[in-house]
Amino acid sequence: MAISILRTIEELTDHVVRQKASGRSIGVVPTMGALHEGHLSLVRASLNSVDETIVTIFVNPTQFAAGEDLGSYPRTLDSDVERLDSLDPSGSIVVFAPAEDQMYPADCTTRVTAPLIAKKLEGEFRPTHFDGVVLVVLKLLNLTRADLAFFGQKDFQQVAVIKQMVNDLNVPCKIIVCPIARDPDGLAMSSRNVYLSASEREIALSISKTLDHVEKLILGGLRDGFEVITEMRQALIDAGVDSIDYAVIANPVSLETSDPITLPAVALIAVHVGDTRLIDNRIIKDEL
Ligand code: PAJ
Repeated sequence: MAISILRTIEELTDHVVRQKASGRSIGVVPTMGALHEGHLSLVRASLNSVDETIVTIFVNPTQFAAGEDLGSYPRTLDSDVERLDSLDPSGSIVVFAPAEDQMYPADCTTRVTAPLIAKKLEGEFRPTHFDGVVLVVLKLLNLTRADLAFFGQKDFQQVAVIKQMVNDLNVPCKIIVCPIARDPDGLAMSSRNVYLSASEREIALSISKTLDHVEKLILGGLRDGFEVITEMRQALIDAGVDSIDYAVIANPVSLETSDPITLPAVALIAVHVGDTRLIDNRIIKDEL
């Protein structure tokens, strides 16, 4: 059975009302499309947890600043739907792929301010980004009336921001976080990896290798934050990244850095390789 593609708010609302009326639980997987295995792992998690999964595919303009890649962001709806089709033998997925004027009609002028945790890290380099993310995610949670919403640890700060927004605004939806899906060579999957040339991809591999390295250093007992960060930055520079937005070890809840390092911690990296900005992270905790 081919997956239904809902294009309008009205179609989505009809679908949601029908599901709710028959007592079915709803999961939502918000995406910007160009689906890869990372996205599909969220969809599988939803299929395993709820009766009905809504995958949203919308390249959200409000989270891109002028000069970012809104225009060139990959848009591959047909192949996205094919990939979802192959996951869905029981017919419990629908795709919501609205045009921009469905999500943002001209008279939609309300805006949402992201919580304070949005100001660090990504927020220093993309100051308006998380306001756009919380706006669209709040709209999608309201529209889908989802019981569960699935997000990837790949965007570590995004999860922290969304959890805080849901808590602060009393949104009746539980946020489920899924692990980072990687290519066999370790590169975190991202829709933006298609921008990388072969040589840039080689350089990009240094991101996950650096995370492996700092994890070993810290679990091996090194807690000197300055020393770890210096090694981390040097490894990225030696590998040939063009610039580092941040490379830090932080508290996984507050995202504050501390020296000496305390566990659990999260190592977070954002770098530019050529024209492509890449992010990755690793939660570091003592197994004992
Ligand atoms: P997008 O980058 O398409 O990602 C959609 C979801 O897939 C996010 O929750 C992201 O963390 C998750 N994801 C991406 N790469 C992943 C990987 N390698 N492993 C596991 N999960 C991964 O994030 C966004 O879109 C947007 O900001 C959105 C939340 C849809 C709002 O517009």
